[in-house]
Amino acid sequence: ELGPYRHFMQKEIHEQPRALADTIEGVIDRNGFVPALFGDADGAVLRDVEAVQILACGTSYYAGLVARYWIEAIAGIPCAVDIASEYRYRAAVANPKQLVVTISQSGETLDTMEALKYAKALGHERTLSICNVPESAIPRASRLVYYTRAGAEIGVASTKAFTTQLVALFTLTATLAKLRGRLSDEQEAQYLEALRHLPGSVQHALNLEPQIVAWAERFAAKEHALFLGRGVHYPIALEGALKLKEISYIHAEAYPAGELKHGPLALVDSAMPVVVIAPNDSLLEKVKSNIQEVRARGGEMFVFTDLDSHFGESEQVNVIRTPRHVGILSPVVHAIPVQLLAYHAALARGTDVDKPRNLAKSVTVE
Ligand code: F6R
Repeated sequence: ELGPYRHFMQKEIHEQPRALADTIEGVIDRNGFVPALFGDADGAVLRDVEAVQILACGTSYYAGLVARYWIEAIAGIPCAVDIASEYRYRAAVANPKQLVVTISQSGETLDTMEALKYAKALGHERTLSICNVPESAIPRASRLVYYTRAGAEIGVASTKAFTTQLVALFTLTATLAKLRGRLSDEQEAQYLEALRHLPGSVQHALNLEPQIVAWAERFAAKEHALFLGRGVHYPIALEGALKLKEISYIHAEAYPAGELKHGPLALVDSAMPVVVIAPNDSLLEKVKSNIQEVRARGGEMFVFTDLDSHFGESEQVNVIRTPRHVGILSPVVHAIPVQLLAYHAALARGTDVDKPRNLAKSVTVE
C-alpha cells in the first residue's frame, strides 16, 4: 500500500494536493462557500460570535496559531489559541459569545477532549470541532463539526491532516467574516480563486523535493537547528522545528525572527543551521534585516521563499523558491518544504520515520 514511497510519511506528504483538492471540493461550489458547512445549526452558533478560543495540541495547535492571524485580520474577531493541556488547568474566563474551536486529527487526544469538557463546564455552548476521523470522541462532544478529508493518516508525524486543517480554518474564517458582513463579493471571489489554485501550488512545492534532499543531507550531520518566521509564517517555523525534532531527533527551536536579538542570536555560529520561512508577505523586509543579523554572526541560512521575494543567494545564504507567492494561503504552501526537510533529514539519519521513538499516533493519556 506504500506504492512508490518508502514510508507512510512520504506518501502522506505527497498526497496533499489530492487531500486538499478533496477538502476544497467539499467547501466551495460554483456559487461560493457551501452553506451550513459546519452543520445545520451553524448560522445560529456562529452568527454573533464575539471571540474565538482555539484549543489543540502539537501540530494541530500550530494550525490554530495560523488561524488566529486569519480570524483577526479577516473576520475582525479576537482570537486566542491555547495548548489544550494548559487551558484545562487554568481559570479561563467564560464568555457566552465565545466560539470554542477544538482541532484534532485523531479526535481522540485526551487533553483536547478534557479542554473541551472544561470549556463546556464553564458554560460555553458554542463548540466546533475540526477533525479528520469521523465519529471520534471530540466531534461527538461538539455542537458543530467539520471533517477534513485528508484520508487516513498513518505516519505518527502529522502532515496532510495539518494542511487540510488549515483549509478548514480558512473556510471558518471566511464564514465568520461573511456572517459579520465583512466579506465583500469581490473578496469572496478572490478567496475562492485562491483555494482553487491551492492544490496546484502545493504540487509545485512538492516538486522542490530534489533540492530539499540536498539540504537535508547537510542537516543530518547537525545536532541543532533554528527555525525563524514572522507573522503568519511563524507557526510554520514552529511546525518545521517540531517535525525535525520528532522524526530526526535533531534538536530544533523556532522563534519569531524579531525575537532573535532578545536571546537566541547568542546561539548562532557556523555550526548552527538557520532555516528561514520568508515568502513575499508584508513582513519580508523585516525578515531580510533579521537575516543580516544572523549572517553577521557567521550563521548559515536555509531560506524557503518564493520567486516574488527576489531573495539573493550568497555564500552563507542558501535559497529554495516556490514559483510564486500565493497570498493569504501561503502558510499552507510553505508547510510542504519543512515537512520534506524533516523527512529527508530523518531518512539520512536512518531513524524510524513512521514510528519515532517514544511517540504514539494518538495520545489518549495525559
Ligand atoms: C506532530 C503530531 C502531534 C499531533 C498532536 C495532536 O507531528 O502529529 O503533535 O499533532 O499529538 O494530535 P491530534 O491532532 O490527533 O489531536
